[in-house]
Amino acid sequence: MAIAPDFLDEIRARVGLGDVIARHVSLKRAGRELSGLCPFHNEKTPSFTVSEEKGFFHCFGCGAHGDVIGFVMRQEGLSFPEAVERLASEAGLEVPRATPAEREAERRRANLHDVMERACRFFEAELRSPRGAAALAYLADRRIDEATIARFRLGYAPDSRTALRNAVMDAEHPEALLVEAGLLIRPDGGTPYDRFRGRVIFPIADRRGRVIAFGGRTLGDGTPKYLNSPETPLFDKSRVLYGMATAREAAHRNRRVIVTEGYTDVIALNRAGYAEAVAPLGTALTESHLHELWRMAPEPILCFDGDEAGKRAARRAAERALPLLEPGRSLQFVSLPPGQDPDGLVAEGGSGAVDACLAARRGLVELVWEMNTEGRRFDTPERIAGLEQVLDRAVDRIDNRRVQYQYRTRFRSRLDDRFGFRRGPRRRGGADGIGIRAEMSPETLPRSTVRHIVATLLRHPPLIEEFDERLASLEVAERQVDSLLRRILAVVHDAPGLDEDRLKSHLSGTDAELAEALIRADVYTQWRFAGPNATIESARSGVSHALDGLRLSSVKADLAAAEMALADDPSEENVERLIQLKAELEVFDGEDAVPAGETG
Ligand code: UTP
Ligand code: MN
Repeated sequence: MAIAPDFLDEIRARVGLGDVIARHVSLKRAGRELSGLCPFHNEKTPSFTVSEEKGFFHCFGCGAHGDVIGFVMRQEGLSFPEAVERLASEAGLEVPRATPAEREAERRRANLHDVMERACRFFEAELRSPRGAAALAYLADRRIDEATIARFRLGYAPDSRTALRNAVMDAEHPEALLVEAGLLIRPDGGTPYDRFRGRVIFPIADRRGRVIAFGGRTLGDGTPKYLNSPETPLFDKSRVLYGMATAREAAHRNRRVIVTEGYTDVIALNRAGYAEAVAPLGTALTESHLHELWRMAPEPILCFDGDEAGKRAARRAAERALPLLEPGRSLQFVSLPPGQDPDGLVAEGGSGAVDACLAARRGLVELVWEMNTEGRRFDTPERIAGLEQVLDRAVDRIDNRRVQYQYRTRFRSRLDDRFGFRRGPRRRGGADGIGIRAEMSPETLPRSTVRHIVATLLRHPPLIEEFDERLASLEVAERQVDSLLRRILAVVHDAPGLDEDRLKSHLSGTDAELAEALIRADVYTQWRFAGPNATIESARSGVSHALDGLRLSSVKADLAAAEMALADDPSEENVERLIQLKAELEVFDGEDAVPAGETG
């Protein structure tokens, strides 16, 4: 019985290799791998390793080696189809029976792959021919260099209805196949003609790097801006991510994958050193996309454009992810400045700007809270009850019981901290112990840390002068907060010694509005040093700790970038940089640089 390779891939994706093996072998984590005593020969010290990333087990003692199907075959003495059957039923999948018609379909697929590869080579060659000069200039204009063109196999479809057709059609690749591949359009009753004409071509590859579709961009302002292949037997938009193949290795290496909105974002991030970038093809993220992403990294980072559409896309992805969450498996979110996409970000600020945005990423729990609270006031019992209800509904959508429990308790304690009815002083280790602070992962800290710092400065203007230099060198991801901080630094430079009210009187417009919002006490109860009752001493120590915390996360981000740079290019310069950053990091070692809750 021939079982479709795609179906086998599906099984490998759905069942966790580690989980299956752990039923028989007691496994310990050792770096990226798991290890234990080999079940296939007698041993006292573990030489059996499992790489979940690679999807293989290997025994250095007896040489046993294989994937999850091989493991089940050996362990349970099953034949290949039996093992597939067993794993499929565990994963809730039905093994597709290969009929003669299906075998014929397999053969056609092989031909389709073949014709797509030929088309891709044709487009690549066209880009470098005289006909492709304008397209090449367009790419150069967008700062896409030769190496990137080669890596992404960018090409050009000449402005002709027959060029591709003439180049790839032959006895083995008849017209009907080209139509099925989406390369030709067949008008009703008419002669099929080239779909892509006068466009820069972005080949879309599957996980294994085989070209399965194309996106074509106009050189100018024509519409549509991008024309994509239609759905074909090879191309299912709802499963494929642009950059899937180019991102895979880096994603595993860095345990990270960055999801953007478009072709050019993926390419720009690559240029800036982030090879682990992918994008859906003009659609919202589907469940299949999420599964693909989780195969690459446990917490994909969604980095969508800073406009309303981008925010909406992030919210939709969050909604879709809730039922699929599992222990250790989540999403993270980066907000880009309004009007900015990753392509623009790289062009303006290079990898520094990307790092700053990535460092300010937030967890899914944070986003769900924000989605339901942002811009609203909860000043009546009914409104608070309403909030409780929508949060409960979100939590109810999480299928995994452990994850659900974590979300529920986190939201409960946050609601309680914010809106709870307080009978005298509460001591459960303080609101800081299990409340808001505990729920914030380190990744969610930087952004809110800066807000705390600015709130504190507004209340205690003398601190602005004291921390002047460290404040001036802060890289602030949120544009408005940055603007407010720069403004108050400037005001204090010009007129030292202002008090709170006089400082505020120097602010106007959005700066003034943000300042008001920041010092509204209830938002910042988690770190009391920023609150209205904090003494200047506690405020000073809070700001100092918070600045240390930010410095730490920025050194860590630089370090990650330096490690990547080094992996790409082991030059002496890159080694130096890494050593220097490691030394900087050691200064922080052993210190709890995250600001502790002040009792103020
Ligand atoms: P954008 O409009 O953000 O394009 O669409 P972009 O990636 O920034 O492209 P440039 O920088 O202007 O060249 C995001 C994605 O939506 C899909 C494409 O996948 C695109 O990358 N899209 C957009 C289409 O499929 N068709 C369109 O007409 C426009
Ligand atoms: Mn763009």
